[in-house]
Amino acid sequence: MAKLWAGLESGKINKLAEEFNSSIGFDSRLYEEDIKGSIAHAAMLCKCKYLTEDEFALINSGLACILDDIKSGNIKIDETAEDIHTFVEELLTGRIGETGKKLHTARSRNDQVALDLRLYLKGECDAEIALLKELIGAICEKAEEYKNTVCPGYTHLQRAQPITFGHHLMAYAFMLMRDVERLSDCKKRMDVSPIGSCALAGTTYNTDRFFEAEKLGFSDVCRNSIDGVSDRDFAVELISCNAIIMTHLSRFSEEIILWSSAEFGYVKLSSDYTTGSSIMPQKRNPDMAELVRGKTGRVYGDLISLLTTLKGLPLAYNKDMQEDKESVFDSSDTVKACLQVFAGMISSMTANKEKMLSAAKKGFLNATDLADYLVGKGIPFRDAYKISGEIVAECIKENCSLEDFPIEKYKKHSEKISEDVYPALSIETCVNKRKSFGGTGGNSVEMQIEYIKEKLK
Ligand code: ARG
Repeated sequence: MAKLWAGLESGKINKLAEEFNSSIGFDSRLYEEDIKGSIAHAAMLCKCKYLTEDEFALINSGLACILDDIKSGNIKIDETAEDIHTFVEELLTGRIGETGKKLHTARSRNDQVALDLRLYLKGECDAEIALLKELIGAICEKAEEYKNTVCPGYTHLQRAQPITFGHHLMAYAFMLMRDVERLSDCKKRMDVSPIGSCALAGTTYNTDRFFEAEKLGFSDVCRNSIDGVSDRDFAVELISCNAIIMTHLSRFSEEIILWSSAEFGYVKLSSDYTTGSSIMPQKRNPDMAELVRGKTGRVYGDLISLLTTLKGLPLAYNKDMQEDKESVFDSSDTVKACLQVFAGMISSMTANKEKMLSAAKKGFLNATDLADYLVGKGIPFRDAYKISGEIVAECIKENCSLEDFPIEKYKKHSEKISEDVYPALSIETCVNKRKSFGGTGGNSVEMQIEYIKEKLK
């Protein structure tokens, strides 16, 4: 087929080169944004008297029909077309005749593709935010269920201090809530219309970019036409947000994988979210969590891919920029799939309260509390820390816990220790006494759940 840009020469190129050049294989998903953008463009051309009312009506209904036909599957997008913009325009002219040729007045594919991508990615931001909120809601419910379930809290993957499982889960709710905020912030900068930048320099026509931007629901208009067609920072920013989301999901996945191993035995994933082994019948593999962890790598790759594509490009448009789409699409597709499966996996996950509690009782997780107890008796913290360290060392030697260490032996370490040390060292006390704002004890976790639920509204 003759190219839309045929003019200087025939527009025919080598077959392989033609295939190599084509982006329809991955930009066809922009069809709705492309058509809506063209309708708004035609409306602007009509307002500015470059199209008559009749011409606009013809273009408008022609484009609306194409949109319906693609959506309903009445027509298939031609995989041999150069790109989605070319496909739609040629189809329109084929259907409505000469008037179709007026649509591309005062625009270029350079501002058209920047427009389509911004419109599409704004929708992706919204879709991801909705899915993130569902997952956060599921986490809040689990946290509610396990707000009094004591488990070990870790640093360096060494048992550190007792916490509640609800508290631990809520940490992820806060991380993901920041992801929601990051996405909505990213969307704000994306919400600026590049259309009317034309090839790069603006246009000789007396157009109304603000009218067109408003019709398309943008909050603002790119104020420099070269910037409007040159940058893809909005796509980079979305992939960055996606990379951070994946970091959060990947850490959560890693924990779920550990917790569901026999070594920990803290949680059980529903059989809906585990798979079996083809050879070992006893196995229940946490494949969903592993895949999420694995897919994190490809989203990071998407980010590096686009950044690298952009880093050496002179202004304004360069064909390299056609490579922006696969990375950003892949990153959002991946994030959406991960968020969806994650919400179901969390909702159906159950915790083994006994295992968590017995793990929390082993490993001297109340050693800090012993030091705090000594501080309460007037000993400076550094000395208290040293004394409790020595007591723990003796307990390890004698294979007993701090709760079972006899009072006479305690007294050898410090005369200030008396019988009231035992209630001070119980796991329940250790958890409940950490009432500081944001901490694990008292009603702090309930407050955290309330806070997040309020934000979800
Ligand atoms: N398919 C192209 C892309 O995605 C559209 C813009 C083409 N512009 C051009 N000057 N060749 O970037």
